[in-house]
Amino acid sequence: TSLHDFIQHLPKAELHLHIEGSLEPEMMFELAKKNQVSLPYASVEEVRAAYDFADLQSFLDLYYAGAAVLQTEQDFFDLTHAYIQRALADQVRHVELFFDPQTHTARGIAIATVFAGIARALREAKAQHGFSGTMIMCFLRHLSEEDAIATLEAALPLRDAYADVWIGVGLDSAEVGNPPEKFTHVFTLAQAMGLHLVAHAGEEGPPAYIHGALDVLQVERIDHGVRAEEDAALMQRLQQTRMPLTVCPLSNLKLCVVKDLREHNLARMLRDGLCVTINSDDPAYFGGYMNTNFIATADALDLSKAELVQLARNSFEAAFVSDEQKQVWF
Ligand code: ADE
Ligand code: ZN
Repeated sequence: TSLHDFIQHLPKAELHLHIEGSLEPEMMFELAKKNQVSLPYASVEEVRAAYDFADLQSFLDLYYAGAAVLQTEQDFFDLTHAYIQRALADQVRHVELFFDPQTHTARGIAIATVFAGIARALREAKAQHGFSGTMIMCFLRHLSEEDAIATLEAALPLRDAYADVWIGVGLDSAEVGNPPEKFTHVFTLAQAMGLHLVAHAGEEGPPAYIHGALDVLQVERIDHGVRAEEDAALMQRLQQTRMPLTVCPLSNLKLCVVKDLREHNLARMLRDGLCVTINSDDPAYFGGYMNTNFIATADALDLSKAELVQLARNSFEAAFVSDEQKQVWF
């Protein structure tokens, strides 16, 4: 239909994409074979059948197991390159991708290998397609703050070599029981380094975690944030400050944050004037990339063309790029 065509051609920025979550089962099998990593599945079909999640943790268990096939610089390049092809097809002009170095350094992969492979794919895409891509290094919140600080320190020597792509830090993994305050020191250090700050908050965790991310960690965007709706004062604050929320509709559906996409609060928050954006989170696991998320959401929530334009506009407003660059895109 014409609404779907309209979505297809709309320029967008993607601000909530875990590059390890773009690992398609086919590539998982290829890399497992090449790197001689054994997988607990016999076939691509078996992997896909396992993508039936009850909550965030049941997904994370599979996501970390799958990431074990990533070993070399070329593997990280291939993963990122494949994502960029999908993004280009969906008229994504700019991505600020998340990556989880601790998932890899815990297996003996050097952090420099992770940076090098991802950055090479981003730089090549910029040269070949004018595609813009930057990197946000995430700390795993189920691990200690000491581990996060060690990760930031291990990345420090790479700062200059990756100054064009590494722009910020984030916080992801198991939310409930790991509040933002646990990472106060490492976020203070990252802020002093001039890095942008974001954090997952209010996906499964309570509105208090969104307050903590804003007031204690001083983040510039909230990843997910859908549970903000339970706190009227917080909603007013998010609206008045235009604090961006990087919402991931199909992720919320697959992880049972919402029972039905028709019950998703994205449209209500958009209509209330919050700076909400649509993103794919872990597209290989959750059923689709950017345009699949846009189409499913538009259909479920009866979004108008004007609202779709506003969502795309919000994605550029919320991006960590100059105002001049935003004007070129939108
Ligand atoms: N890591 C990858 N995807 C995530 C999500 N949706 N929430 C928390 N951690 C994640
Ligand atoms: Zn996420």
